[in-house]
Amino acid sequence: MPKKQIKNIAVVTPGGDAPGMNPAIRAVVRCAISSGLNVLGVKRGWQGLIDGDIVDLHLKSVSGIISKGGTILLTHRCHEFKEKTVRQKAYENLKAFNIDAMIVIGGDGSLKAAYQIYKETKLPIINIPASIDNDIYGTDYTIGFDTAVNTAVNAIDKIRDTATSHERIFIVEVMGRNSGSIAIDVGITCGAEAILIPEIPFNLDDVTKKLKQGEQRGKSSFIIVLAEGAGHAHDIAEKISKKTDLEVRVSILGHMQRGGNPTALSREVACKLGAAAVRALLDGKTSIMVGMLSDKVVDTPTKIAVKRKKDIDRDGYKLAEILSA
Ligand code: F6P
Repeated sequence: MPKKQIKNIAVVTPGGDAPGMNPAIRAVVRCAISSGLNVLGVKRGWQGLIDGDIVDLHLKSVSGIISKGGTILLTHRCHEFKEKTVRQKAYENLKAFNIDAMIVIGGDGSLKAAYQIYKETKLPIINIPASIDNDIYGTDYTIGFDTAVNTAVNAIDKIRDTATSHERIFIVEVMGRNSGSIAIDVGITCGAEAILIPEIPFNLDDVTKKLKQGEQRGKSSFIIVLAEGAGHAHDIAEKISKKTDLEVRVSILGHMQRGGNPTALSREVACKLGAAAVRALLDGKTSIMVGMLSDKVVDTPTKIAVKRKKDIDRDGYKLAEILSA
């Protein structure tokens, strides 16, 4: 049977937002229109597909958004989408709006949902990895990761000033429920004395020993970067406080890491992957993720991207330990 010609594509940004989603939407819209396609925007992630909250996007709809954090399409954590009956409603809207293909800009949850939709409908779907967590197989960078790291580093540079003045230990919690990628890059680039992440088991006695060795060499303040998923910052602070003479304070950076103007790198990745996603659809690809590997755009079948686990930067983790002596 000849493949149906693609005329109308939809773009959606489900799950947690990431700085750089807007430049990715812009690239998709502008590349698609320049190739003669019509573009629809699905509002609030999968919720908009269920509700039929779908709007036309034009060249002008994406003006002035390249430098803006968040997503102009809005988003929502749509847990109901796991139910088949709910997804069925979304599939009826795909037909009602004559959607021939979809571009999904999101993190690991969005990737899994997109694969489910593809399996159930055979709708061509191209995924663009966007998440501050950088935890998706098949890409060196997810859109938003670099911005989140820079935001956290800027914050920790300020915390370092007060930590030094007061001769305190700071435990700074960065985002990453299941991933230590932000913590590792932030730890290396702000000179953290310790990095605690979910992927590498740690012992607080060893952490304290390292702090004490530092004290013996004349250090009087320390930054410990803790990934959200590695433990409770206040519990760890209490334990470390009992084992050392220094005061311990906690700073939880939280959702500020998800906002702000995307960095040049987040924008560049977004522009290139947005363009690659449209090209992939025009080339007849049906279920892939476009990613950046060694500065080149590379396709990975979605089936593989959802199955395989990306490893953390273990060499970077070790390097941070050496550099913070
Ligand atoms: O997946 C990105 C992320 O920012 C995680 O690092 C974090 O644990 C989670 O989203 C927070 O989600 P929410 O905004 O729903 O609280």
